[in-house]
Amino acid sequence: MIVTQRLSAFQPDDIAVAGAILRRGGVVAIPTETVYGLATAADNAVAVERIFAAKGRPSDNPLIVHIADIQALETLCRDVPDEAFLLASRFWPGPLTLVLPKKDTVPDVVTAGLPTVAVRLPASPEARAVITAAGVPLAAPSANRAGRPSPTCADHVWADMNGRIDAVLDGGACCLGVESTVLDLTSQIPRLLRPGGVTHEELEAALGVVVAVDPAVLGLLPPGEKPRAPGMKYRHYAPEAPVVILSGDAKAAAAYVQKNNAKGTAVLCAEEEKSIFPDVLVVCYGRESEPKSLARGLFDALRQLDDPEIQIIYARRPAAGGLMDAVRNRLGKAASFQILDV
Ligand code: TXA
Ligand code: MG
Repeated sequence: MIVTQRLSAFQPDDIAVAGAILRRGGVVAIPTETVYGLATAADNAVAVERIFAAKGRPSDNPLIVHIADIQALETLCRDVPDEAFLLASRFWPGPLTLVLPKKDTVPDVVTAGLPTVAVRLPASPEARAVITAAGVPLAAPSANRAGRPSPTCADHVWADMNGRIDAVLDGGACCLGVESTVLDLTSQIPRLLRPGGVTHEELEAALGVVVAVDPAVLGLLPPGEKPRAPGMKYRHYAPEAPVVILSGDAKAAAAYVQKNNAKGTAVLCAEEEKSIFPDVLVVCYGRESEPKSLARGLFDALRQLDDPEIQIIYARRPAAGGLMDAVRNRLGKAASFQILDV
């Protein structure tokens, strides 16, 4: 057990402390615009191993390397295609992660032995300040214990990581709330590995065709099929109780829940639908009319639902398209892609 310091991302002195901890191989949870990341110096293999230990993350799941300026991209990657620079000019700083061929200087532990590395330049000024203070790119997965919802505020990180890491840098609530889009640029046609803050539509407008490598990515997995994309095979974001996604119209979903409303039943839905589920615990995570609010509220809602009193969670199936693809994907993972047509 280590003593975890609590630092403020809005205090320059605390940013300097975080930078010093990172330079000597420590682990610091940092705020970004998507979710909090569990950061350490990407060039320090021993330090990176500490991240896997603190998270309980399988060593075959690679990390994202965070940079504070575009020049750092070519210190990590080789054969960077024009598409990468085009995307960087449109979407960086921001919630887009690019997978590119790695240079030998990137330790294998960061990429789980893959010949590619995932790189992102975050929009959060606090995240960039701490990368700059560390003086090296930072390897950082989301700062949750493996399998838990990603943390969108410092208290979530504290709940998962107190005593396991050197410091938490509190930068307030994350404004986006779901993780970055992961795009693989190493194949002929760019492949969407994870939908996120930059949408599939925005990527196609910039690049032409972008394929979703796996139907599960956009929540379209046929029954009985297992996801293939890296990172997709892990059960994730899930509260203790099983999550079942209800597709179909609101009336049918309400009737289904009423019929199956045993003790410990909970519903996860948008504010607009709250009133159609009487006599049951309802957790709302945002407004259907504002996809950004749903993205921002999802992980906190999943944490609220992680309660020993709750036995089963029925979640309304989110709409598809734009930012909602990311919401649908995360909820799909929480439910192990169990969708019930009511
Ligand atoms: O918004 C985010 O991306 C946050 C913040 C902290 O930046 N980070 C994050 O990291 O979500 P993590 O480790 O929870 O998710 C990274 C995803 C995983 O699904 C991993 O499998 C995939 O990116 N990934 C990383 N490196 C890869 C690579 N070389 N090839 C394919 N997938 C990769
Ligand atoms: Mg994660």
